[in-house]
Amino acid sequence: MKTPTICQLLLDDKTAENITVQGWVRSFRSNRFIALNDGSTLQNLQCVVEFEQYDPAVLKQISVGAALKLHGDITPSEGSGQKYELKVNAIEVYGTSDPETYPIQPKKHSLEFLREKAHLRVRTNTFSAVMRLRSRLAFAVHQYFSNQSFCYVHTPIITGSDAEGAGEMFRVTTLSPQNPPLNEEGKVNYKEDFFGKETNLTVSGQLEAETYAMALGKVYTFGPTFRAENSNTSRHLAEFWMIEPEVAFNDLWDNMDLAEDFIKYVINDALSHCAEDLQFLASRLLEEEKSKPQAERSELSLIEKLRFVTENNFIRLSYTEAVDILMQSTPNKKKKFQYPIEGWGVDLQSEHERYLVEKHFKCPVILYDYPADIKAFYMRLNEDQKTVRAMDILFPGIGEIVGGSQREERLDVLEQRISALGIDPKELWWYLDLRKFGTAPHAGFGLGFERLVLFVTGMTNIRDVIPFPRTPQNAEF
Ligand code: 4AD
Ligand code: MG
Repeated sequence: MKTPTICQLLLDDKTAENITVQGWVRSFRSNRFIALNDGSTLQNLQCVVEFEQYDPAVLKQISVGAALKLHGDITPSEGSGQKYELKVNAIEVYGTSDPETYPIQPKKHSLEFLREKAHLRVRTNTFSAVMRLRSRLAFAVHQYFSNQSFCYVHTPIITGSDAEGAGEMFRVTTLSPQNPPLNEEGKVNYKEDFFGKETNLTVSGQLEAETYAMALGKVYTFGPTFRAENSNTSRHLAEFWMIEPEVAFNDLWDNMDLAEDFIKYVINDALSHCAEDLQFLASRLLEEEKSKPQAERSELSLIEKLRFVTENNFIRLSYTEAVDILMQSTPNKKKKFQYPIEGWGVDLQSEHERYLVEKHFKCPVILYDYPADIKAFYMRLNEDQKTVRAMDILFPGIGEIVGGSQREERLDVLEQRISALGIDPKELWWYLDLRKFGTAPHAGFGLGFERLVLFVTGMTNIRDVIPFPRTPQNAEF
């Protein structure tokens, strides 16, 4: 049976006969007015029941959360608040919902409470709006790269290499945790494991994407990535989705241009295709900000913030310039930073990134040419021998949203970097092969998808923009 979605019915904007709708009850007033939601839009369809015509036992089954099929005519609404309503002439109750125990009531629930009910929270306006936006943004990502003739590559989830060299990986094994086979040295013998070697969940698809860029030119991956870093913050997940384009013959400047253009495209797409959900999230944010002290409130509304990003050039600034600004900054001089900036070479913390973006420039910033010592092995070494062609994009309210670089395409320099960092070159033999057979300049970046969704929806905790967040001590559902 084909039934129109509520979104479609409201778009049609006209009366209609013999319409069937299906959805979940958001509220039931006066034994007469059902607000029905089917997830296709934020809006509920008002459905009017002539209760005299129904068995009271049927009406008793209608309560918040129940799943219904309703049949009737779309007629002009007599009440205010909606243009049309469904005059119901048949009711089928698919599933009741016990009003005593159903946790999602038509009232404001805290986000913390809803996190405990992640299987039901998408039935609220906030989460349905966030998840429709998330879906649209994912679609826009593919559309952008497809329009630009990129090839979508599915890089593996199980890997034998640590792309970031940070050692924050989840092991994948079928060996018995109680009695693993041991080698002569008394250590676990991974030769007997499923893959005959140590394997992990990937932290990034970049290294494999590079191999494809060296044949297909312009490629991107978009998939789940896993990091066992113990950062219990509102910006970190143990399982998150990353978009990683990789382009042959691009240098760092091309890479910045691509990242900026890409981000603007997907945000514009959300602005034009999710206006209703964005408007709702903007009002939600405004409400939330009212509880904050004046000084911490944002000067711009959510929509204005998104427009600001799409309409202005990102500031481009070298790490060295950024450190100068931070050294001279008031919070540094007044020792207000938790990690004071004492000189060139330190890794920037999120408090520093946010100072640059939110206080100093009030604009997204692309920082580039970082000290080699604080960046991954694959980034191209600059002439100065101490910085690498790295770039991070920093966003207001988020901090780092993109990390990328021009890659080291020179075999000898790459080998030196690998051995200086104590990485076993044998593990990267295939990656080094790219530098032996037709090596070429190339560059790419990774955009954390949830951080993008955070920015676009104005939500403040990354756990609220992915259906089932995975964080330390938390893998329910
Ligand atoms: O800066 P990162 O670690 O870069 C890479 O993984 C590169 N291999 C990407 C590339 O050049 N192809 O991560 C990229 C982005 C970060 O800027 C951030 O947005 C996001 O991934 N990210 C996380 N998002 C949520 N939770 C985490 N634990 C994240 N770690 C990184
Ligand atoms: Mg990074």
